[in-house]
Amino acid sequence: YQNEIYFEGLGGVVPKYPMTAAELASRAEAAMPPSVWSYVAGGAGDERTQDANARAFDGWGLVPRMFVGAVERDLSVDLFGMHLPSPLFMAPVGVLGICAQDGHGDLATARAAARTGAPMVASTLSVDPLEQVAPELGDTPGFFQLYTPTDRDLAASLVRRAEAAGFRGIVVTLDTWITGWRPRDLATSNFPQLRGHCLANYFSDPVFRGLLDAPVEEDPGAAILRWVSVFGNPLTWDDLPWLRSLTELPLIVKGLQHPDDVRRAKDGGVDGIYCSNHGGRQANGGLPALDALPAVVDAAGELPVLFDSGVRSGADVVKALALGATAVGVGRPYVHGLALGGTDGVVHVLRTLLAEADLIMAVDGYPTLGDLTPDALRRVLR
Ligand code: FNR
Repeated sequence: YQNEIYFEGLGGVVPKYPMTAAELASRAEAAMPPSVWSYVAGGAGDERTQDANARAFDGWGLVPRMFVGAVERDLSVDLFGMHLPSPLFMAPVGVLGICAQDGHGDLATARAAARTGAPMVASTLSVDPLEQVAPELGDTPGFFQLYTPTDRDLAASLVRRAEAAGFRGIVVTLDTWITGWRPRDLATSNFPQLRGHCLANYFSDPVFRGLLDAPVEEDPGAAILRWVSVFGNPLTWDDLPWLRSLTELPLIVKGLQHPDDVRRAKDGGVDGIYCSNHGGRQANGGLPALDALPAVVDAAGELPVLFDSGVRSGADVVKALALGATAVGVGRPYVHGLALGGTDGVVHVLRTLLAEADLIMAVDGYPTLGDLTPDALRRVLR
């Protein structure tokens, strides 16, 4: 990708979209309505955990190796029996529709997944119904992220729909049964944005519709209130066998950071661990997710570990891999790309991250993911 951009540059063409995460964010902010920007950019409390997520990457430096001749690099990875071209994936982001100019952010993101091979994790709170999202993924695998509703039949229905639509794994998010304390959100209240079409995935669910006194179309206000009442379920370990019984697809639990939780989830039969603090959106005062990663990887043993929170560059991707992540997710950066250029914007963000990761592996002499071990990193001393 860098060659493409350099060669275009020789012809006088400057890149259409920004090349750094910071510039991308500021251009996206200018392009989005303030309440939508608050929704995307906001973190819990004074956002120190959110900021620390990104800064944690500065605490590690890659040690380059010379005379390696890393002309060919292999970034491909095997995950849950699937062969992926790279370890990069798109983390689940709810209500993506309000971030896209045409209101169909989930479809645009799925098309970016199809074009890059980077899996999309579609949120329970997608605007576009998951049956419409799945076909847009092409040959790229998609995962469905479940916010478990209080009603078990509804949870089962969402999972059944995801299976039928062709999603290849279920990611259960554990840290969001209650909404985070996000001052930016509270100040701008994005709730009106949720009205109308915005929760079409949920509102199209047959079990959810069965819970309503009047059809969604007749009384959307009542449907939203009903949704609030079913949304979020404080799961306990006692619920894990039930979750496991919901599907034979790979089951991944998102939000784990304590090694004891990882061990227990593993004993409960999950297929993957997703180390994340929700990009610092849910609880302030927490450890940066990257700092939790090594112990999570250690406890996970042979189980794959997905990671997100604070990834802003190709260098960050490489560092997370070296600390043991099997696959690395981005959240906000691709949403910024979506806001700026729909599918093209998302593709640009993913390709930029991958091109930088690939270039670092070349220059620093780590040609395959297997070469990226904690040994490749040192603590940065200040
Ligand atoms: C999220 N995230 C999220 N996670 C999830 O499991 N289900 C969801 O619906 C959402 N919704 C959501 C909306 C927005 C606007 C953001 C920014 C994030 C969390 C997401 O999956 C991921 O954990 C973080 O975004 C990763 O951190 P970064 O890359 O944004 O720093």
